[in-house]
Amino acid sequence: MSQAPPALRCDHVVKRFGDFVAVNDVSLEVRPGEIFALLGPNGAGKTTLIGCITGLARATGGTIEVFGHDVQRAFRKTRRLVGLVPQEINFDPFLSPYQSLLVQQGLMGQKPDPARADALLSTFSLSDHRDAYSRHLSGGMKRRLLVAKALVHHPKLLFLDEPTAGVDVELRKELWEEVRRLRDEGTTIVLTTHYLEEAEMLADRIGVLRKGQLLVVESRDEMMARGGGEKRLEDIFVQLVREGAEEAPR
Ligand SMILES: Nc1ncnc2c1ncn2[C@@H]1O[C@H](COP(=O)(O)OP(=O)(O)O)[C@@H](O)[C@H]1O
Ligand SMILES: [Mg+2]
Repeated sequence: MSQAPPALRCDHVVKRFGDFVAVNDVSLEVRPGEIFALLGPNGAGKTTLIGCITGLARATGGTIEVFGHDVQRAFRKTRRLVGLVPQEINFDPFLSPYQSLLVQQGLMGQKPDPARADALLSTFSLSDHRDAYSRHLSGGMKRRLLVAKALVHHPKLLFLDEPTAGVDVELRKELWEEVRRLRDEGTTIVLTTHYLEEAEMLADRIGVLRKGQLLVVESRDEMMARGGGEKRLEDIFVQLVREGAEEAPR
């Protein structure tokens, strides 16, 4: 049976910081073309797990594959397959949006591609601020620039780590549209969020992480069915995390 490999496969992934176990034996598959929401309270290990996948950190144990390639052994390959919109704003405040995109192309081992940079600026409504200092952009523009940066090399698997934290309603809706558009183009998306409503709106499947452990992975509809069609995802989530508390010593 020859099947396309999953976009992401985590197999018993562990990440320790000293004695502290931030990611505790996580096994998970993300299918090509889906939007997967990774939910979990603050400190659950979402950013740490994403760091291990995207090569910012090294897992202490287990294996991680991106489209069938091991992220440690085939680092150069997988780095080009993944894009990351980080939780923290991470661009040089003295570069313009245009320059940031060209620098990012270089970091991804690409030749400068001014046309591609301008196309991304246009997609993200940043053309008018092409040559402004990035530090002068509004919060929403900075967030859009982060997404544009993550896309310069056409990643097949895109991680959005709390992309809408502290972002106003209008921009959140814009980002949702963008996420859907990327998915329609064939990009696989893993999204972490605090806004349960966001997962409810966007996700095909949802995983819940708590204290480094994956409590459940279900389709959005399965997850919603836990509430008998009456509860909001938010209430289901709170209940799950509470139940997990009793059975998940760390
Ligand atoms: N570099 C680090 N050194 C020590 N502890 C860390 C480090 N990075 C994260 N942690 C801890 O790991 C846990 C998970 O953090 P994180 O992955 O950022 O959670 P989340 O993104 O789900 O909020 C937290 O308790 C955090 O304090
Ligand atoms: Mg985080």
